[in-house]
Amino acid sequence: MAILKIARMGHPVLLQKCEPVPDPGAPEIRRLVADMVETMEDAYGAGLAAPQVHVPLRLFVFRVAEARGNEDADDTPVGNTVVINPEIEFLSQERVLRWEGCLSIPGLRAAVPRAPRIRYRGVDCDGRPVAREVTGFHAGVVQHEYDHLDGILYPMRMRDFSLFGFTEELARAAAAQQEGR
Ligand code: NI
Repeated sequence: MAILKIARMGHPVLLQKCEPVPDPGAPEIRRLVADMVETMEDAYGAGLAAPQVHVPLRLFVFRVAEARGNEDADDTPVGNTVVINPEIEFLSQERVLRWEGCLSIPGLRAAVPRAPRIRYRGVDCDGRPVAREVTGFHAGVVQHEYDHLDGILYPMRMRDFSLFGFTEELARAAAAQQEGR
């Protein structure tokens, strides 16, 4: 296993439309997935898409940490999950703002409009189908990672750039606001 180098915003690989994975069970795909999980964990990330490690293929990994249960009542923790050749379906026209970061845009966070409820499907490395209907953080992270496969980074989804900032400053501002209450 290895920790992979993460492409940062500005690298052309992040703007590419990725190709389907021809053989999800191939040894090189398993190795890539294992390395992506290790890289995500090492960076304390919630998700990582293949183009972020310079591989323009349609697959991503993600997890929903235990702590997320406090943010979204809907969210139940999900261990490391791979979705290969995913499809996504928005289950409403509605969009809600969700705070996101991205390992390719380090140090920044923003409120991004996302569908509150989605259905997604794909396969894992054993070719077993993955199919879920989800809400909350889980729905948000899957939309974020799926976008990477189409060359879309979260700032390209934003409408209100006043809700974009450095993680550190946003945390300071939130703490100051709480103190003032
Ligand atoms: Ni990202």
